[in-house]
Amino acid sequence: MKILISGCCGFIGYHLTKALLEQKHEVYGIDNINNYYSTKLKEARLKKIKKEYKNFAFEQLDLSKISSLENVQFDLAINLAAQPGVRLDWKENFRYLDSNITGFHNFLDFCKFKNIKKIIFASSSSVYGDGSNKSFKENQKLSPRSLYAATKLYNENLAEVFSNSFDTDIIGLRFFTVYGSWGRPDMAYYLFTDNIFKGKEITLFNKGKMARDMTHISDIVKGIVSSINLIETNNLGYRIYNLGNNDPIKTIDLLRKIEFKLSKKATINEVSSKTESFYTHANLEKAEKEINYHPSVNLDEGLEEFVSWYISYVSI
Ligand SMILES: NC(=O)c1ccc[n+]([C@@H]2O[C@H](COP(=O)([O-])OP(=O)(O)OC[C@H]3O[C@@H](n4cnc5c(N)ncnc54)[C@H](O)[C@@H]3O)[C@@H](O)[C@H]2O)c1
Repeated sequence: MKILISGCCGFIGYHLTKALLEQKHEVYGIDNINNYYSTKLKEARLKKIKKEYKNFAFEQLDLSKISSLENVQFDLAINLAAQPGVRLDWKENFRYLDSNITGFHNFLDFCKFKNIKKIIFASSSSVYGDGSNKSFKENQKLSPRSLYAATKLYNENLAEVFSNSFDTDIIGLRFFTVYGSWGRPDMAYYLFTDNIFKGKEITLFNKGKMARDMTHISDIVKGIVSSINLIETNNLGYRIYNLGNNDPIKTIDLLRKIEFKLSKKATINEVSSKTESFYTHANLEKAEKEINYHPSVNLDEGLEEFVSWYISYVSI
């Protein structure tokens, strides 16, 4: 298949692009390589893909300019480009609005113009907010606690309307705290590792009592590939799936595991936060049944993989 991936220089985009190129798909990646976190890391990911695969094309492009790809034809379009994270300053809110609202709108508009009938996009576990004390099911009430989460919920609503209006198959995937090698430096597991390793103070939100259903990148990639297999050959309309790990861990316990892996104690600065969900926990029944999604990497194995990548990356 010829596949368009937006956000291909990002953490998930990098791993997904590699997996699809390995399967001999043709991938056309776009990314604006913005400076939300290290552009050096994004460029290093891109360099590695370009070096290892011939079936890859890339254009540095913002979603606002996606219509310029008018001469390329695609069988499937995957939108990963977004402003992630829930902690941007209020005055930085335009980043969520530009990339996640207007950007996603432009992405769908492009798909309509190019008659692309198969679309997959990234949503987030953050749409649930603190909905219940049980594992989160796709059909339960959603109550986003941050502007980021609200933009992801908007993406879901827009995608469903688009799917119904233009007879297009769309799968939305609610990712739960994805971690692993080449990961995102703004996320807790990365910040903990980086700061402990460098002997710097770490910020611990809400006394480390928040819990996250941490999901290894290799499981997420398998979930996306299974979604591609399903959407490729079926008329689905609009579907939404959780991609998580069904095994939440408190951030304080995550921190202790990382200290153990690095054989070093953290210096902790405690801060409270209101934009975070108190806990996330994916119910996987629907994804298991419909896309055969079965995460297999436990946190200890996954952290081992991440920490050894991190040490080799910072040592370059
Ligand atoms: N990593 C997670 O734990 C997680 C959890 C839930 C949802 N998600 C979602 O998954 C997707 C990928 O996340 P990630 O962790 O790889 O993030 P990332 O920031 O590493 O990747 C996103 C990429 O998109 C690019 N981008 C952003 N805005 C753009 C725009 N307007 N035009 C073109 N490119 C743009 C960025 O430069 C970046 O390389 C995002 O939509 C994110 O919201 C991620």
